[in-house]
Amino acid sequence: MTTAKLTLDGGNYEFPTFSGTENELAIDCRKLRGETTAITYDPGYGNTGSCKSAITFIDGEKGILRYRGYPIEDLVGRVRFSAVAYLLIHGELPDTAQLAGWRNDLTKNSLIHESMLKFFDHFPVTAHPMNILASMISSMSSFYPYDSEQEEHINLNIIRLIGQVKTLAAFSYKKSVGQPFMYPRSEYTYAANFLHMMFAEPTETYSVPKVLEDALDALLILHADHEQNCSTSTVRMVGSSQANLYACLSAGVNALWGPLHGGANQEVLEMLQRIQADGGDYKKYVAKAKDKDDPFRLMGFGHRVYKNFDPRAIVLRQKAEQVLNELGINDPLLDIAKNLEEIALKDSYFVERNLYPNVDFYSGIIYRAMGIPTEMFTVLFAIGRMPGWIAHWLEMRSDPDNRIHRPRQIYIGQPERHLP
Ligand code: SDX
Repeated sequence: MTTAKLTLDGGNYEFPTFSGTENELAIDCRKLRGETTAITYDPGYGNTGSCKSAITFIDGEKGILRYRGYPIEDLVGRVRFSAVAYLLIHGELPDTAQLAGWRNDLTKNSLIHESMLKFFDHFPVTAHPMNILASMISSMSSFYPYDSEQEEHINLNIIRLIGQVKTLAAFSYKKSVGQPFMYPRSEYTYAANFLHMMFAEPTETYSVPKVLEDALDALLILHADHEQNCSTSTVRMVGSSQANLYACLSAGVNALWGPLHGGANQEVLEMLQRIQADGGDYKKYVAKAKDKDDPFRLMGFGHRVYKNFDPRAIVLRQKAEQVLNELGINDPLLDIAKNLEEIALKDSYFVERNLYPNVDFYSGIIYRAMGIPTEMFTVLFAIGRMPGWIAHWLEMRSDPDNRIHRPRQIYIGQPERHLP
Protein backbone atom coordinates (compact mmCIF):
# COMPACT_ATOMS: atom_id res chain seq x y z
CA MET A 1 0.00 0.00 0.00
CA THR A 2 1.31 3.49 -0.84
CA THR A 3 1.75 5.89 2.03
CA ALA A 4 1.82 9.68 2.19
CA LYS A 5 5.04 11.00 3.67
CA LEU A 6 5.12 14.30 5.53
CA THR A 7 8.14 16.21 6.79
CA LEU A 8 7.18 18.77 9.45
CA ASP A 9 9.33 20.65 11.96
CA GLY A 10 12.15 18.19 11.41
CA GLY A 11 9.86 15.20 11.95
CA ASN A 12 9.10 12.59 9.28
CA TYR A 13 5.65 11.06 9.26
CA GLU A 14 3.83 8.51 7.10
CA PHE A 15 0.10 8.19 6.69
CA PRO A 16 -1.77 5.34 5.00
CA THR A 17 -3.69 5.88 1.78
CA PHE A 18 -6.58 3.99 0.24
CA SER A 19 -8.56 4.08 -3.03
CA GLY A 20 -12.21 3.65 -3.95
CA THR A 21 -14.03 1.84 -6.77
CA GLU A 22 -12.99 4.49 -9.31
CA ASN A 23 -9.40 4.73 -8.00
CA GLU A 24 -9.91 8.03 -6.19
CA LEU A 25 -7.02 8.26 -3.74
CA ALA A 26 -7.38 9.37 -0.11
CA ILE A 27 -4.80 10.07 2.58
CA ASP A 28 -6.07 8.71 5.89
CA CYS A 29 -5.08 11.57 8.20
CA ARG A 30 -7.08 10.52 11.25
CA LYS A 31 -3.82 10.32 13.25
CA LEU A 32 -2.31 13.57 11.90
CA ARG A 33 -2.95 15.74 14.99
CA GLY A 34 -2.03 13.01 17.41
CA GLU A 35 1.33 12.42 15.70
CA THR A 36 2.22 15.97 14.57
CA THR A 37 0.00 18.30 16.70
CA ALA A 38 -0.85 20.00 13.36
CA ILE A 39 -4.31 19.97 11.75
CA THR A 40 -5.33 20.38 8.10
CA TYR A 41 -6.93 23.67 7.01
CA ASP A 42 -9.49 23.27 4.20
CA PRO A 43 -12.31 25.90 4.26
CA GLY A 44 -15.36 24.52 2.46
CA TYR A 45 -13.85 21.03 2.62
CA GLY A 46 -12.94 21.10 -1.11
CA ASN A 47 -10.08 18.67 -0.48
CA THR A 48 -11.52 16.73 2.44
CA GLY A 49 -13.40 13.45 2.34
CA SER A 50 -15.96 13.16 5.15
CA CYS A 51 -16.85 9.52 4.55
CA LYS A 52 -16.74 6.50 2.27
CA SER A 53 -19.98 6.13 0.32
CA ALA A 54 -21.48 3.59 -2.09
CA ILE A 55 -24.48 5.69 -3.13
CA THR A 56 -23.42 8.19 -5.84
CA PHE A 57 -20.30 8.66 -7.93
CA ILE A 58 -19.40 11.96 -9.60
CA ASP A 59 -16.46 12.55 -11.91
CA GLY A 60 -16.24 16.35 -12.12
CA GLU A 61 -13.69 16.36 -14.93
CA LYS A 62 -15.60 13.91 -17.15
CA GLY A 63 -19.10 15.10 -16.23
CA ILE A 64 -20.16 11.71 -14.90
CA LEU A 65 -23.02 11.20 -12.40
CA ARG A 66 -24.09 7.65 -11.40
CA TYR A 67 -26.61 6.48 -8.80
CA ARG A 68 -25.51 3.10 -7.36
CA GLY A 69 -23.46 2.62 -10.55
CA TYR A 70 -26.18 3.54 -13.06
CA PRO A 71 -25.44 6.68 -15.17
CA ILE A 72 -28.30 9.18 -14.82
CA GLU A 73 -28.69 9.07 -18.60
CA ASP A 74 -29.66 5.37 -18.26
CA LEU A 75 -32.31 6.11 -15.65
CA VAL A 76 -34.11 9.25 -16.89
CA GLY A 77 -37.07 8.29 -19.08
CA ARG A 78 -36.58 4.52 -18.49
CA VAL A 79 -37.47 4.09 -14.80
CA ARG A 80 -39.77 6.19 -12.64
CA PHE A 81 -38.61 8.43 -9.80
CA SER A 82 -40.17 6.06 -7.24
CA ALA A 83 -37.90 3.26 -8.52
CA VAL A 84 -34.84 5.55 -8.38
CA ALA A 85 -35.74 6.47 -4.78
CA TYR A 86 -35.82 2.72 -3.99
CA LEU A 87 -32.47 2.25 -5.76
CA LEU A 88 -30.75 5.00 -3.78
CA ILE A 89 -32.11 3.77 -0.44
CA HIS A 90 -31.90 -0.01 -0.93
CA GLY A 91 -28.94 -0.21 -3.34
CA GLU A 92 -30.71 -2.09 -6.14
CA LEU A 93 -33.57 -1.30 -8.52
CA PRO A 94 -36.80 -2.94 -7.26
CA ASP A 95 -38.23 -5.99 -9.01
CA THR A 96 -41.89 -5.85 -10.05
CA ALA A 97 -43.24 -7.01 -6.68
CA GLN A 98 -40.89 -4.76 -4.69
CA LEU A 99 -41.84 -1.74 -6.83
CA ALA A 100 -45.56 -2.44 -6.43
CA GLY A 101 -45.18 -2.72 -2.65
CA TRP A 102 -42.97 0.39 -2.46
CA ARG A 103 -45.34 2.49 -4.54
CA ASN A 104 -48.31 1.25 -2.50
CA ASP A 105 -46.50 2.21 0.73
CA LEU A 106 -45.69 5.68 -0.65
CA THR A 107 -49.26 6.23 -1.83
CA LYS A 108 -50.82 4.97 1.40
CA ASN A 109 -48.56 7.34 3.35
CA SER A 110 -49.14 10.44 1.20
CA LEU A 111 -51.60 12.05 3.60
CA ILE A 112 -50.18 14.30 6.28
CA HIS A 113 -51.35 14.04 9.91
CA GLU A 114 -54.69 15.83 9.99
CA SER A 115 -53.60 17.85 13.05
CA MET A 116 -50.76 19.30 10.96
CA LEU A 117 -53.25 20.83 8.52
CA LYS A 118 -53.93 23.50 11.16
CA PHE A 119 -50.28 24.64 10.96
CA PHE A 120 -50.94 26.06 7.50
CA ASP A 121 -53.46 28.50 9.00
CA HIS A 122 -50.76 30.12 11.10
CA PHE A 123 -48.09 30.81 8.48
CA PRO A 124 -48.38 34.26 6.87
CA VAL A 125 -49.53 34.01 3.24
CA THR A 126 -46.12 35.42 2.32
CA ALA A 127 -44.28 32.54 4.05
CA HIS A 128 -41.67 31.00 1.73
CA PRO A 129 -42.62 27.37 0.99
CA MET A 130 -39.10 26.22 1.96
CA ASN A 131 -39.69 27.68 5.42
CA ILE A 132 -43.01 25.85 5.63
CA LEU A 133 -41.46 22.59 4.40
CA ALA A 134 -38.56 22.70 6.88
CA SER A 135 -40.96 23.52 9.75
CA MET A 136 -43.43 20.80 8.79
CA ILE A 137 -40.77 18.09 8.39
CA SER A 138 -39.31 18.97 11.79
CA SER A 139 -42.82 18.89 13.30
CA MET A 140 -43.40 15.35 11.97
CA SER A 141 -41.20 14.09 14.83
CA SER A 142 -43.93 15.28 17.22
CA PHE A 143 -46.58 13.23 15.46
CA TYR A 144 -44.76 9.99 14.61
CA PRO A 145 -42.65 7.79 16.86
CA TYR A 146 -39.05 7.89 15.79
CA ASP A 147 -37.20 5.49 18.04
CA SER A 148 -34.13 5.28 15.81
CA GLU A 149 -33.25 1.91 17.24
CA GLN A 150 -36.45 0.30 15.93
CA GLU A 151 -36.12 -0.70 12.27
CA GLU A 152 -39.90 -0.63 11.82
CA HIS A 153 -39.97 3.01 12.98
CA ILE A 154 -37.15 3.91 10.62
CA ASN A 155 -38.72 2.19 7.61
CA LEU A 156 -42.16 3.70 8.25
CA ASN A 157 -40.69 7.17 8.80
CA ILE A 158 -38.78 6.90 5.50
CA ILE A 159 -42.01 6.02 3.70
CA ARG A 160 -43.85 8.85 5.42
CA LEU A 161 -41.19 11.41 4.50
CA ILE A 162 -41.04 10.50 0.80
CA GLY A 163 -44.82 10.04 0.64
CA GLN A 164 -45.72 13.24 2.47
CA VAL A 165 -43.08 15.69 1.24
CA LYS A 166 -44.93 16.21 -2.07
CA THR A 167 -48.21 16.68 -0.17
CA LEU A 168 -46.70 19.26 2.18
CA ALA A 169 -45.27 21.09 -0.85
CA ALA A 170 -48.54 21.11 -2.79
CA PHE A 171 -50.54 22.16 0.27
CA SER A 172 -48.17 25.10 0.90
CA TYR A 173 -48.81 26.23 -2.68
CA LYS A 174 -52.58 25.84 -2.38
CA LYS A 175 -52.51 27.84 0.86
CA SER A 176 -50.53 30.62 -0.84
CA VAL A 177 -53.16 30.98 -3.58
CA GLY A 178 -56.12 30.60 -1.24
CA GLN A 179 -57.39 27.41 -2.85
CA PRO A 180 -58.64 24.29 -1.06
CA PHE A 181 -56.18 21.44 -0.56
CA MET A 182 -56.47 18.65 -3.11
CA TYR A 183 -55.75 15.21 -1.67
CA PRO A 184 -53.51 12.66 -3.41
CA ARG A 185 -55.07 9.92 -5.49
CA SER A 186 -54.06 6.28 -5.20
CA GLU A 187 -54.07 5.60 -8.93
CA TYR A 188 -51.50 8.29 -9.78
CA THR A 189 -47.72 8.02 -10.11
CA TYR A 190 -45.60 10.07 -7.71
CA ALA A 191 -45.11 12.93 -10.19
CA ALA A 192 -48.72 12.87 -11.39
CA ASN A 193 -49.95 13.01 -7.79
CA PHE A 194 -47.92 16.12 -7.08
CA LEU A 195 -49.20 17.87 -10.20
CA HIS A 196 -52.75 16.79 -9.34
CA MET A 197 -52.44 18.24 -5.81
CA MET A 198 -50.92 21.44 -7.24
CA PHE A 199 -53.29 22.21 -10.08
CA ALA A 200 -56.56 20.29 -9.64
CA GLU A 201 -59.55 22.12 -8.17
CA PRO A 202 -62.68 20.57 -6.60
CA THR A 203 -64.95 22.26 -9.15
CA GLU A 204 -63.13 21.05 -12.26
CA THR A 205 -62.07 17.75 -13.79
CA TYR A 206 -58.28 17.83 -14.07
CA SER A 207 -56.23 15.25 -15.92
CA VAL A 208 -52.45 15.43 -15.51
CA PRO A 209 -50.79 16.17 -18.90
CA LYS A 210 -48.43 13.27 -19.71
CA VAL A 211 -45.73 15.67 -20.95
CA LEU A 212 -45.70 17.40 -17.56
CA GLU A 213 -45.78 14.13 -15.60
CA ASP A 214 -42.81 12.81 -17.59
CA ALA A 215 -40.91 16.12 -17.31
CA LEU A 216 -41.39 16.29 -13.54
CA ASP A 217 -40.41 12.64 -13.15
CA ALA A 218 -37.17 13.37 -15.01
CA LEU A 219 -36.51 16.49 -12.91
CA LEU A 220 -37.03 14.57 -9.66
CA ILE A 221 -34.63 11.83 -10.82
CA LEU A 222 -31.96 14.37 -11.81
CA HIS A 223 -32.15 16.00 -8.38
CA ALA A 224 -32.33 12.74 -6.38
CA ASP A 225 -28.75 12.69 -5.09
CA HIS A 226 -25.37 14.32 -5.52
CA GLU A 227 -22.96 12.73 -2.98
CA GLN A 228 -21.58 15.09 -0.27
CA ASN A 229 -23.16 18.41 -1.33
CA CYS A 230 -23.90 21.07 1.26
CA SER A 231 -27.39 19.85 2.26
CA THR A 232 -26.48 16.16 2.28
CA SER A 233 -23.40 16.89 4.39
CA THR A 234 -25.71 18.82 6.71
CA VAL A 235 -28.01 15.80 7.04
CA ARG A 236 -24.97 13.64 7.85
CA MET A 237 -23.58 16.17 10.34
CA VAL A 238 -26.88 16.52 12.22
CA GLY A 239 -27.32 12.74 12.03
CA SER A 240 -23.87 12.19 13.54
CA SER A 241 -25.23 13.52 16.86
CA GLN A 242 -27.96 10.82 16.60
CA ALA A 243 -30.73 13.39 16.16
CA ASN A 244 -33.90 11.84 14.72
CA LEU A 245 -34.43 11.48 10.95
CA TYR A 246 -37.01 14.28 10.78
CA ALA A 247 -34.65 16.74 12.50
CA CYS A 248 -31.84 15.77 10.10
CA LEU A 249 -33.96 16.24 6.98
CA SER A 250 -35.39 19.54 8.21
CA ALA A 251 -31.79 20.72 8.53
CA GLY A 252 -31.12 19.48 4.99
CA VAL A 253 -34.07 21.48 3.65
CA ASN A 254 -32.75 24.61 5.34
CA ALA A 255 -29.25 24.13 3.92
CA LEU A 256 -30.69 23.54 0.43
CA TRP A 257 -32.64 26.83 0.68
CA GLY A 258 -29.46 28.90 0.40
CA PRO A 259 -29.08 30.83 -2.92
CA LEU A 260 -25.64 29.30 -3.55
CA HIS A 261 -27.14 25.79 -3.30
CA GLY A 262 -30.67 24.67 -4.15
CA GLY A 263 -32.03 28.20 -3.89
CA ALA A 264 -30.09 28.97 -7.08
CA ASN A 265 -32.91 27.65 -9.29
CA GLN A 266 -35.19 30.42 -8.02
CA GLU A 267 -32.34 32.93 -8.34
CA VAL A 268 -31.72 31.86 -11.97
CA LEU A 269 -35.32 32.52 -12.99
CA GLU A 270 -35.34 35.88 -11.20
CA MET A 271 -32.01 36.74 -12.89
CA LEU A 272 -33.42 35.87 -16.33
CA GLN A 273 -36.52 37.96 -15.61
CA ARG A 274 -34.31 40.85 -14.49
CA ILE A 275 -32.32 40.63 -17.74
CA GLN A 276 -35.54 40.48 -19.75
CA ALA A 277 -36.89 43.55 -17.92
CA ASP A 278 -33.59 45.28 -18.68
CA GLY A 279 -34.13 45.02 -22.43
CA GLY A 280 -32.70 41.50 -22.69
CA ASP A 281 -29.16 42.88 -22.51
CA TYR A 282 -27.52 39.63 -21.38
CA LYS A 283 -24.03 40.87 -22.32
CA LYS A 284 -24.35 43.56 -19.64
CA TYR A 285 -24.95 40.87 -17.03
CA VAL A 286 -22.05 38.75 -18.22
CA ALA A 287 -19.88 41.84 -17.73
CA LYS A 288 -21.34 42.37 -14.23
CA ALA A 289 -20.57 38.73 -13.35
CA LYS A 290 -16.94 39.26 -14.37
CA ASP A 291 -16.58 42.55 -12.48
CA LYS A 292 -14.81 41.86 -9.17
CA ASP A 293 -16.35 45.03 -7.73
CA ASP A 294 -19.85 43.84 -8.58
CA PRO A 295 -21.40 41.23 -6.22
CA PHE A 296 -23.57 39.94 -9.09
CA ARG A 297 -22.95 36.29 -10.00
CA LEU A 298 -24.33 34.44 -13.01
CA MET A 299 -26.69 32.20 -11.05
CA GLY A 300 -26.88 28.63 -12.35
CA PHE A 301 -23.21 28.79 -13.38
CA GLY A 302 -20.26 27.13 -11.69
CA HIS A 303 -19.89 24.10 -9.47
CA ARG A 304 -17.48 22.95 -6.79
CA VAL A 305 -17.08 19.52 -8.40
CA TYR A 306 -17.98 19.76 -12.09
CA LYS A 307 -15.08 21.44 -13.89
CA ASN A 308 -16.20 20.56 -17.39
CA PHE A 309 -19.98 20.31 -17.52
CA ASP A 310 -22.85 19.24 -15.25
CA PRO A 311 -24.40 16.21 -16.99
CA ARG A 312 -27.75 17.14 -15.48
CA ALA A 313 -27.65 20.52 -17.24
CA ILE A 314 -27.13 18.72 -20.57
CA VAL A 315 -30.23 16.57 -20.00
CA LEU A 316 -32.26 19.53 -18.69
CA ARG A 317 -31.37 21.77 -21.64
CA GLN A 318 -32.75 19.11 -24.00
CA LYS A 319 -35.79 18.54 -21.76
CA ALA A 320 -36.53 22.30 -21.67
CA GLU A 321 -36.55 22.47 -25.49
CA GLN A 322 -38.75 19.35 -25.69
CA VAL A 323 -41.30 20.47 -23.06
CA LEU A 324 -41.65 24.00 -24.46
CA ASN A 325 -42.07 22.62 -28.00
CA GLU A 326 -44.67 20.06 -26.89
CA LEU A 327 -46.56 22.76 -24.98
CA GLY A 328 -46.19 25.22 -27.84
CA ILE A 329 -44.56 27.75 -25.51
CA ASN A 330 -42.07 30.27 -26.85
CA ASP A 331 -40.41 31.49 -23.64
CA PRO A 332 -38.03 34.43 -24.20
CA LEU A 333 -36.25 33.47 -20.95
CA LEU A 334 -35.04 30.26 -22.62
CA ASP A 335 -33.50 32.34 -25.41
CA ILE A 336 -31.80 34.59 -22.83
CA ALA A 337 -30.51 31.48 -21.01
CA LYS A 338 -29.10 29.98 -24.21
CA ASN A 339 -27.45 33.30 -25.13
CA LEU A 340 -25.89 33.54 -21.66
CA GLU A 341 -24.59 29.98 -21.97
CA GLU A 342 -23.20 30.60 -25.45
CA ILE A 343 -21.35 33.80 -24.52
CA ALA A 344 -20.04 32.41 -21.21
CA LEU A 345 -18.68 29.20 -22.75
CA LYS A 346 -16.45 31.31 -25.02
CA ASP A 347 -15.43 33.95 -22.47
CA SER A 348 -12.01 33.44 -20.88
CA TYR A 349 -13.27 34.54 -17.43
CA PHE A 350 -15.67 31.60 -17.29
CA VAL A 351 -13.48 29.15 -19.18
CA GLU A 352 -10.42 29.81 -16.94
CA ARG A 353 -12.59 29.27 -13.84
CA ASN A 354 -14.37 26.20 -15.26
CA LEU A 355 -17.75 27.88 -14.92
CA TYR A 356 -20.45 26.00 -16.84
CA PRO A 357 -24.23 25.77 -16.49
CA ASN A 358 -25.21 23.57 -13.54
CA VAL A 359 -28.39 21.69 -12.68
CA ASP A 360 -30.15 24.92 -11.66
CA PHE A 361 -29.62 26.79 -14.91
CA TYR A 362 -32.33 25.18 -17.00
CA SER A 363 -34.58 23.52 -14.42
CA GLY A 364 -36.50 26.74 -13.69
CA ILE A 365 -37.42 27.17 -17.37
CA ILE A 366 -39.16 23.79 -17.26
CA TYR A 367 -40.84 24.43 -13.89
CA ARG A 368 -42.12 27.75 -15.25
CA ALA A 369 -43.51 26.05 -18.37
CA MET A 370 -45.30 23.62 -16.04
CA GLY A 371 -46.97 26.52 -14.24
CA ILE A 372 -44.93 26.07 -11.06
CA PRO A 373 -44.44 29.45 -9.34
CA THR A 374 -40.81 30.55 -8.88
CA GLU A 375 -40.94 30.35 -5.09
CA MET A 376 -41.74 26.62 -5.37
CA PHE A 377 -38.66 25.78 -7.46
CA THR A 378 -36.38 24.95 -4.53
CA VAL A 379 -39.18 22.94 -2.92
CA LEU A 380 -39.22 20.76 -6.07
CA PHE A 381 -35.46 20.33 -5.59
CA ALA A 382 -36.09 19.18 -1.99
CA ILE A 383 -38.75 16.69 -3.09
CA GLY A 384 -36.29 15.16 -5.54
CA ARG A 385 -33.39 15.13 -3.05
CA MET A 386 -35.39 13.51 -0.23
CA PRO A 387 -34.41 9.88 -1.11
CA GLY A 388 -30.76 10.89 -1.50
CA TRP A 389 -30.70 12.54 1.92
CA ILE A 390 -32.35 9.47 3.46
CA ALA A 391 -29.91 7.08 1.74
CA HIS A 392 -26.95 9.02 3.16
CA TRP A 393 -28.51 9.16 6.64
CA LEU A 394 -28.93 5.36 6.58
CA GLU A 395 -25.38 4.82 5.26
CA MET A 396 -23.92 7.13 7.92
CA ARG A 397 -25.66 5.18 10.70
CA SER A 398 -24.18 1.87 9.52
CA ASP A 399 -20.68 3.25 8.79
CA PRO A 400 -18.18 1.78 11.30
CA ASP A 401 -16.00 4.87 10.76
CA ASN A 402 -18.85 7.23 11.65
CA ARG A 403 -18.42 9.43 14.71
CA ILE A 404 -19.93 12.77 15.72
CA HIS A 405 -18.79 15.51 13.33
CA ARG A 406 -16.58 17.92 15.22
CA PRO A 407 -14.09 19.84 13.02
CA ARG A 408 -11.09 21.63 14.53
CA GLN A 409 -10.08 25.29 14.09
CA ILE A 410 -7.09 27.60 14.29
CA TYR A 411 -7.74 30.29 16.91
CA ILE A 412 -6.75 33.78 15.76
CA GLY A 413 -8.44 35.81 18.53
CA GLN A 414 -7.07 37.66 21.56
CA PRO A 415 -4.32 36.04 23.66
CA GLU A 416 -5.18 35.32 27.30
CA ARG A 417 -6.12 38.48 29.19
CA HIS A 418 -7.82 39.25 32.50
CA LEU A 419 -10.16 41.83 33.94
CA PRO A 420 -8.25 44.62 35.74
C1 SDX B 1 -26.01 23.16 -6.48
O1 SDX B 1 -22.39 20.57 -4.42
C2 SDX B 1 -23.35 20.16 -5.13
O2 SDX B 1 -23.33 19.06 -5.65
C3 SDX B 1 -24.53 21.09 -5.27
C4 SDX B 1 -25.60 20.68 -6.27
C5 SDX B 1 -26.37 19.46 -5.81
O3 SDX B 1 -26.91 18.74 -6.68
O4 SDX B 1 -26.50 19.27 -4.60
O5 SDX B 1 -24.98 20.41 -7.52
C6 SDX B 1 -26.63 21.79 -6.46
O6 SDX B 1 -25.90 23.77 -5.45
C7 SDX B 1 -25.49 23.71 -7.78
C8 SDX B 1 -24.84 25.14 -7.62
C9 SDX B 1 -25.97 26.19 -7.62
N1 SDX B 1 -25.39 27.50 -7.27
C10 SDX B 1 -25.30 28.48 -8.19
O7 SDX B 1 -25.59 28.34 -9.37
C11 SDX B 1 -24.81 29.81 -7.62
C12 SDX B 1 -23.78 30.43 -8.55
N2 SDX B 1 -22.52 29.64 -8.48
C13 SDX B 1 -21.61 29.93 -7.46
O8 SDX B 1 -21.84 30.83 -6.50
C14 SDX B 1 -20.41 29.00 -7.34
O9 SDX B 1 -20.01 28.66 -8.60
C15 SDX B 1 -20.66 27.75 -6.51
C16 SDX B 1 -21.21 28.09 -5.16
C17 SDX B 1 -21.60 26.82 -7.21
C18 SDX B 1 -19.32 27.03 -6.35
O10 SDX B 1 -18.54 27.85 -5.54
P1 SDX B 1 -16.97 27.52 -5.27
O11 SDX B 1 -16.63 26.16 -5.76
O12 SDX B 1 -16.72 27.85 -3.83
O13 SDX B 1 -16.22 28.53 -6.23
P2 SDX B 1 -15.80 29.98 -5.80
O14 SDX B 1 -16.97 30.70 -5.19
O15 SDX B 1 -14.54 29.89 -5.00
O16 SDX B 1 -15.50 30.67 -7.22
C19 SDX B 1 -14.26 30.43 -7.89
C20 SDX B 1 -14.10 31.61 -8.84
C21 SDX B 1 -14.20 32.97 -8.12
O17 SDX B 1 -13.47 33.91 -8.90
P3 SDX B 1 -11.91 34.27 -8.41
O18 SDX B 1 -12.00 34.71 -6.97
O19 SDX B 1 -11.14 32.95 -8.61
O20 SDX B 1 -11.50 35.35 -9.38
O21 SDX B 1 -15.16 31.60 -9.81
C22 SDX B 1 -15.97 32.77 -9.63
C23 SDX B 1 -15.67 33.31 -8.25
O22 SDX B 1 -15.91 34.72 -8.17
N3 SDX B 1 -17.35 32.33 -9.75
C24 SDX B 1 -18.30 33.00 -10.42
C25 SDX B 1 -19.46 32.20 -10.33
N4 SDX B 1 -19.18 31.08 -9.62
C26 SDX B 1 -17.88 31.17 -9.28
N5 SDX B 1 -18.29 34.20 -11.07
C27 SDX B 1 -19.47 34.58 -11.63
N6 SDX B 1 -20.65 33.85 -11.58
C28 SDX B 1 -20.65 32.65 -10.95
N7 SDX B 1 -21.79 31.94 -10.91
